[in-house]
Amino acid sequence: MKPFDITLALTSIATAASIPSTSPGCGEVDVIFIGLPPYHPLVTSQGFNATEVDIGLRADAANIVKAGYNLRVVLMGPEQPLDVLADQMTGVDWDVIGVGYGVRGSRLENVTIRFADIIGLYHDVAPSAPIVFDHSYDSALWAIQTEVPLSSDCADSPGKDLGFELFCDICEEE
Ligand SMILES: *[C@@H]1O[C@H](CO)[C@@H](O)[C@H](O)[C@H]1NC(C)=O
Ligand SMILES: *[C@@H]1O[C@H](CO)[C@@H](O)[C@H](O)[C@H]1NC(C)=O
Repeated sequence: MKPFDITLALTSIATAASIPSTSPGCGEVDVIFIGLPPYHPLVTSQGFNATEVDIGLRADAANIVKAGYNLRVVLMGPEQPLDVLADQMTGVDWDVIGVGYGVRGSRLENVTIRFADIIGLYHDVAPSAPIVFDHSYDSALWAIQTEVPLSSDCADSPGKDLGFELFCDICEEE
């Protein structure tokens, strides 16, 4: 049971400014975001600088928690079974689910197939949660805030770090 209803919150934003905002408050929104591990060969083969991706992902994650969202990041390549993500989704009633640009923007067939499978899993496990997309490795906060803004500034009450989980057997050393 959640203290707020995302669907209601989104509807009230869209319909009338005169309706009191039912936007969720600090620490009330559980977000899971999936992406590719920074040092995964598919990241470098897509032209990204792994060091910069690593720094960008971690800074963005820290800013999301500082902004008042509870966040779990799951980083895994298509060589990992989809069950790894399914396991990471159990036990929490996710309010917002996200897919990173490395997965969404890939021109590779195997990553694109994985992208479709991730959307399918999200749809099965959390059918009413908005799915959000970033446009770079450091814009997940933008993606979340655009879809589900919080009702107040959370500078004094950050969210919870629910994990920065990395699953990779084939990642290159830093
Ligand atoms: C990757 O980025 C780091 C940090 O900005 C930089 O030191 C390094 O030279 C870059 N590597 C490549 C291959 O461009
Ligand atoms: C994905 O496809 C690329 C390009 O064909 C290939 O290099 C890579 O090994 C593949 N990865 C997996 C996990 O299948």
